[in-house]
Amino acid sequence: MDVMQLLKGRRTYRRFDQSRPVPETALQDMARAVRLSSSARNLQLLRVIFVTDPKLTEAMFEDVHFAADLPRELGTPKPGEHPVMYAVLIYTQKTRWTDTDAGILLSNLTLAAWSHGVGSCIMGNIDRKAIADLLSVPDPGMIHSAVALGYPTHTSEVVDLDEKGSLNYYLDEEKNYKVPKRPISELIYKNKYSNQ
Ligand SMILES: Cc1cc2nc3c(=O)[nH]c(=O)nc-3n(C[C@H](O)[C@H](O)[C@H](O)COP(=O)(O)O)c2cc1C
Repeated sequence: MDVMQLLKGRRTYRRFDQSRPVPETALQDMARAVRLSSSARNLQLLRVIFVTDPKLTEAMFEDVHFAADLPRELGTPKPGEHPVMYAVLIYTQKTRWTDTDAGILLSNLTLAAWSHGVGSCIMGNIDRKAIADLLSVPDPGMIHSAVALGYPTHTSEVVDLDEKGSLNYYLDEEKNYKVPKRPISELIYKNKYSNQ
């Protein structure tokens, strides 16, 4: 897939076909994408736990929080729509640059997933203590984030900001996500800083 197409489609997905596991080929590419991630001084201090056992994914569902901006009945997946996999990102050591490394890794991993049609939701609003207990992580502070994964049952589309400039994502009548993004003219400056 063309890179810009991949970037456009790699949105956040929050409802999945729970009957469809992530295939081994996609898992392998996600693992390769993690390995290929750039890392400050090439220290590669992050690790990823792939959680695919349905007993564990169902337990993890209780420890993650979807779509803080939407009412629960709209934003939280219902039974049958839960993620079928999580990738849990672990710090083995924190340095000034590990969060940057984590962002690059998350981007690589979710793009590799999407190249297989596997949707993702990067999750920071998670119960690190409960997840550490579940996955035998020695210290909850080692958990950076989690990624929920599965084949999406909705679409997600980037839209322009409305006249009020709201950044809140929302669902349309078909319960597909609309994600407002600022215009390029507001994000990119040419040759000098400008906050006009
Ligand atoms: C660091 C980070 C943490 C996030 N945490 C959550 C989360 O806990 N729950 C959730 O539903 N979405 C979470 N998201 C998804 C964002 O809400 C989403 O990226 C945003 O609404 C823009 O949508 P887009 O990814 O399709 O551009 C997170 C995204 C990032 C980058």
